[in-house]
Amino acid sequence: MDADVLFREQKSPWFVFVSLAILGVLYVAAVACRLLHISGLALCLRRPKDLRRRYGAWAVVTGPTSGIGRSMALELARLGLNLVLVGRDPAKLDDISRAVSEAHGVQAKTVLFDFSLVSTPQGDEAMGRLREAVQGLEVGVLVNNAGVATPHATYLHEEADAEAWVRMIRVNLWATTEVTAAVLPGMVERGRGAVVNIGSGATEALPSYPLYSVYAATKRYVTHFSRSLYVEYRGKGIDVQCQAPLFVDTKMTTNMVTQEGLLSWIIMPTPEAYALAAARWIGHRRPLCMPNLSHRLQWCLSQFVPDHVLNMHRLRENLRQRTIFQRLK
Ligand SMILES: NC(=O)c1ccc[n+]([C@@H]2O[C@H](COP(=O)([O-])OP(=O)(O)OC[C@H]3O[C@@H](n4cnc5c(N)ncnc54)[C@H](OP(=O)(O)O)[C@@H]3O)[C@@H](O)[C@H]2O)c1
Ligand SMILES: *[C@@H]1O[C@H](CO)[C@@H](O)[C@H](O)[C@H]1NC(C)=O
Repeated sequence: MDADVLFREQKSPWFVFVSLAILGVLYVAAVACRLLHISGLALCLRRPKDLRRRYGAWAVVTGPTSGIGRSMALELARLGLNLVLVGRDPAKLDDISRAVSEAHGVQAKTVLFDFSLVSTPQGDEAMGRLREAVQGLEVGVLVNNAGVATPHATYLHEEADAEAWVRMIRVNLWATTEVTAAVLPGMVERGRGAVVNIGSGATEALPSYPLYSVYAATKRYVTHFSRSLYVEYRGKGIDVQCQAPLFVDTKMTTNMVTQEGLLSWIIMPTPEAYALAAARWIGHRRPLCMPNLSHRLQWCLSQFVPDHVLNMHRLRENLRQRTIFQRLK
């Protein structure tokens, strides 16, 4: 046999082995980088930002009357920010307004705004009040938190009240858009600001969210809207971020999460614990983040589960919720 051919024959299995080994290492490195990115470990180690000094003395929070929004308002007040509280219920607005001033000595203003009316004549009037309220204030932080998940778990064709979808789209998607557009001009003028839009981990960590198709789609809008604004406004000193929680223990999830006991405690932070982490993530240059560590671990784990398994599991869970909600109706 020709020596050259012999050499080539001996070399080729090695060549294949080494190539496969390199590919393997690159793949593991890529997975590790992605997990490290998701886990946010690097950010955990950094010091939290002084939001007031960095962005300005005021924060606007929508939906501050319950759940995540209420806890975010209290946490931002604890960090020394004055608040513009935007919500639909005057009594609850007064209550949170008093709570932040009494607990943390900050100033608070309230704006009455039912977001399900945004982009109607009544909504335009409320938008005018909001514009007026922020006029002349140094609004550094905007938290677009108000959101609804009703109609609850249902097949799309089953919901008799089609207007309910429209209201959901108005609150979750269009109000977020209009409020952002109303607060941005001042931030652009001052060359600084942070916009935090509350999306949902359900649409980031999971391939689908069956029986909540419209809700999930509105939250995907929030993510993509934020990603594009992040790029659009970065050069103007404004940090736009979508924060995407998985389950948090609020009135929205009362009948949505069927786990109980230790497991629910592990997967589902209280709004107070959630807000503590969420405020720390403001100002870190990430267009999308999942502030709570337990949520990030669930996100990491979901990366290893095939889509059809996640889909089947979610469908089963949400069908169970559909039964609960039908019974409640
Ligand atoms: N909890 C979770 O597991 C979870 C997970 C992912 C994403 N999120 C998102 O987190 C955000 C806060 O939800 P949450 O869990 O804290 O729910 P929540 O306790 O029900 O709070 C929702 C807030 O939005 C306000 N809101 C609802 N409809 C409104 C309207 N038409 N006009 C003005 N304000 C309105 C509510 O006001 P009222 O007090 O007057 O009802 C309340 O302040 C939402 O955007 C939600 O999609 C929550
Ligand atoms: C995240 O969630 C867990 C429980 O669900 C909670 O105990 C913890 O305090 C939260 N905080 C952070 C920083 O991740």
